This record gives sequence, C-alpha cells and structure tokens, in this order.
Amino acid sequence: MNAYETILKRRSIRKFKDKMVSDLFLDKLMKAAMAAPSARNSQPWKFYIVKNAEKRSELVKIFRDFNAPVMVVVAGDMSKLADNKTDFWVQDCAAATQNILLTAEHLGLGTCWCGVYPKEPATKQVKEILNLEEGIIPLSLIQLGYKDEEKEARTQYAKERVVEIK
Ligand SMILES: Cc1cc2nc3c(=O)[nH]c(=O)nc-3n(C[C@H](O)[C@H](O)[C@H](O)COP(=O)(O)O)c2cc1C
Repeated sequence: MNAYETILKRRSIRKFKDKMVSDLFLDKLMKAAMAAPSARNSQPWKFYIVKNAEKRSELVKIFRDFNAPVMVVVAGDMSKLADNKTDFWVQDCAAATQNILLTAEHLGLGTCWCGVYPKEPATKQVKEILNLEEGIIPLSLIQLGYKDEEKEARTQYAKERVVEIK
C-alpha cells in the first residue's frame, strides 16, 4: 500500500480484537510519531502507552465504549514550547497523532483518535488517571489494536471546499 492509499484507508475503528500489539510495532509507532514536523523543531510532545487494564477501563469511561487493548496518549510538554508567546504545541502534537494513525494503518492496525484537550473535564480526568506531571497536557487519546470491524477506504472530497485564489 502506498502512502496515498494508506491515507484513504485509515478510518476510525471502534471495535477491536482481543489481541495485544507487539512492542516492535509500538516502537515503530513512536518513531513515526517523533518523525512529525514541529514549530522550530521544538518537539513539545510526550507519549504515554497504556496497556494496564485498570487504567484503560478508567480512561474508557471518558469516551465511548471502546475495547482497544492499547491506548496511546499524545501530550504537550509545556517546558518545550517553541517560544512562550506563540506556541504551536497543539499543531505539533496533532501532527504526531496523525503520524501514529497512518503508521498503524500501514502495519494493519486500527485506531480511533479521541480528542482530549481543550475539553476541560476530559483533560483533567486523563491527567488524573495517568498521574501526569505538571506542565503536561493530554491532547489526544488513540485507541489502538487489531480491527474487529472493516470500513471502506474513502475521501470526503468536496469540490466547493477548494478555492483557487486568482
Ligand atoms: C480531534 C478529534 C477528536 C475526535 N474525538 C473522537 C471521540 O472522542 N470519540 C470518537 O469516537 N471519535 C472521535 N474522533 C473521530 C471522528 O469522529 C472521525 O475521525 C470522523 O467521524 C471521521 O471518520 P473517519 O475517521 O473514519 O474518517 C475524533 C477525531 C478528531 C480528529
């Protein structure tokens, strides 16, 4: 599968098989995440891999009824901002999140991006459940595992959303 096909094939998966993702794959996903672009190359991110069943069952209450064997939390590290006035940490961490999603698809895994920040209750709850240090803000929680549902590859292309400035 080439990169374009992988992009179209990635869909949000909400049903997962009861099968663990290997450390080799998790390592690849982390390398893909940290290959993302970031403002001034500040890399203001931190990644939390959650396999622990108790922690997952606490986290799952915040979102839908997911059953993923692994959850990856992508968080911004406020001590690493490009500059204190204009911070791009949300964009930087979103780029890392999408790299994880696409690499997972390439590896035959399914994902669902669950938004955390800026939803105040979710941000607070994730921080508390994972006991995150001061200055770490969870942006996204990725449900990750082997797919137990299939979805069509697609784009949602809409011509009217594309404007050529002449
Ligand atoms: C920032 C963001 C937050 C999202 N949060 C959730 C969520 O909390 N729960 C969920 O089931 N899906 C969530 N999604 C997935 C979207 O619902 C999904 O991407 C959208 O419906 C398009 O479907 P597709 O991913 O299959 O293309 C989120 C996606 C993004 C980008």
